[in-house]
Formats: sequence, structure tokens, C-alpha cells
Amino acid sequence: MSVLFPTKPTLTGQRVVLRPFGAYDIEAMGPILADPDVIRLTGSAHTTAETLAASAGLDARTRSWYETRVDQPDRLDLAIVDRESDRCVGEAVLNEWSEADDSCNFRILVGPAGRDRGLGSEATRLLVDYAFQNTTLNRIELGVYAFNPRALRVYGRAGFVVEGRRRDALKFDGEYIDEIAMAILRADWESRPAG
Ligand SMILES: CC(C)(COP(=O)(O)OP(=O)(O)OC[C@H]1O[C@@H](n2cnc3c(N)ncnc32)[C@H](O)[C@@H]1OP(=O)(O)O)[C@@H](O)C(=O)NCCC(=O)NCCS
Repeated sequence: MSVLFPTKPTLTGQRVVLRPFGAYDIEAMGPILADPDVIRLTGSAHTTAETLAASAGLDARTRSWYETRVDQPDRLDLAIVDRESDRCVGEAVLNEWSEADDSCNFRILVGPAGRDRGLGSEATRLLVDYAFQNTTLNRIELGVYAFNPRALRVYGRAGFVVEGRRRDALKFDGEYIDEIAMAILRADWESRPAG
């Protein structure tokens, strides 16, 4: 298997630490993945009723998924840890690497305990900086639903640029929602404003 991330880093910011998943971090992901807003905003359900039905316990398959992330050299999955509480509040991921294109995908989710305190913004910046500083990646892309202005704000501030939209990509509670395509290129990152 080709290798993009030979080692799994711990990245330390002012508000968050991003680290490979440990046992406590994995346990904390249960309620986070069951949070109705996380489910809705990541497009993991199609109705409010479905978002409310999720169980806060991790099933064996999901637990094993997290336990094996550290062994995946073609992607980087890190727990987002709130430095204030030393608790895992979410995850940030670089996946879907295209070796031929020097590109990959980014995704992030933060549970209720961590949201709206600047943690997601810092986690995004830390991971993007790490990727461009330590790999040959040229492009990091993501998709975000149009009903998620908070995420759009965070990505835009981190240097992601809107490239287009997949119209009516998601149907939620009977309403069609566009998915907005964004990406940051190495050149964007190199010319980002200081600070
Ligand atoms: C999206 C997410 C990662 C952002 O992380 P966060 O820690 O909550 O965000 P931050 O506190 O760093 O920043 C939020 C920014 O959005 C702004 N914001 C919040 N709600 C907003 C809204 N309804 N409209 C516009 N801006 C909004 C905040 O004011 C803040 O900007 P500011 O710092 O300029 O004031 C996190 O909220 C999350 O994971 N949400 C649930 C799942 C999800 O949406 N995942 C992304 C799927 S693409």
C-alpha cells in the first residue's frame, strides 16, 4: 500500500490537540456520532426522525474502525481533544487520497460540547498546515451542505475556496439541499494571509 502518512502526529494548538485515537477518545465518539446535528449536517440521515433515533453506544464495527485508523498509511484520522477538558470532542480526517493527483478529501465533525468555541477552526488549520508541510499533497477538497453556514464560515476562513455545487445533492425532511464543493490548493495555502 502506498504511504502518505508514515507516522501519525499529535498536533498541538492553543485550544485543541489533534492526536491518534486512544481508548478514551474512541469511547467519547459514541455520543458525538449520535448527536442529531452531527448526523444531519454530515448527511448521514434523511429525516429528523432518523437523526433522533441514533444510539450513543458504539457498535463493535465502529469501535474496530477507530482502533484501526492508526494503521492506515494512506489517510490521517485524528481525535480533536479540547485542551480545557482533555476530552475528545470530535474528529478531523484526511482521506480519499489520490496518489496520482496529489489530492485528498477533508472532513471534520465536532460534538455539542466542543462547538462554537473556535475548536473546529483551529483543528482545520492545524490539519491543513500539517498536510501541506509534511506531504506532497497539492489539493485538499471537501463537500459541505448549503444548510451548514457555520462549516462554510470555518472552511472559508481556513482558505478553502468554493468551486461549485452539486445541486439538490441531499434530500432532508423532504427538502432538497445543495452540496457545495470547496478546495484549498497548495498555492492558496502558500499565499494565505499571515495569522
Ligand atoms: C462545522 C464545525 C466543524 C465547526 O467547528 P466549531 O468549533 O463549531 O466552529 P468555530 O467555533 O471554530 O467557528 C464557527 C464560526 O461560524 C460562525 N457561525 C456559527 N453559526 C453560524 C451561522 N448560523 N451562520 C454563519 N456563521 C455561523 C461563528 O460565528 C464562527 O465564526 P467567527 O469565529 O468568525 O465568529 C462544527 O460545528 C461541527 O462539526 N458541526 C457539526 C457537524 C458538521 O457540521 N460537520 C461539518 C460537515 S461539512
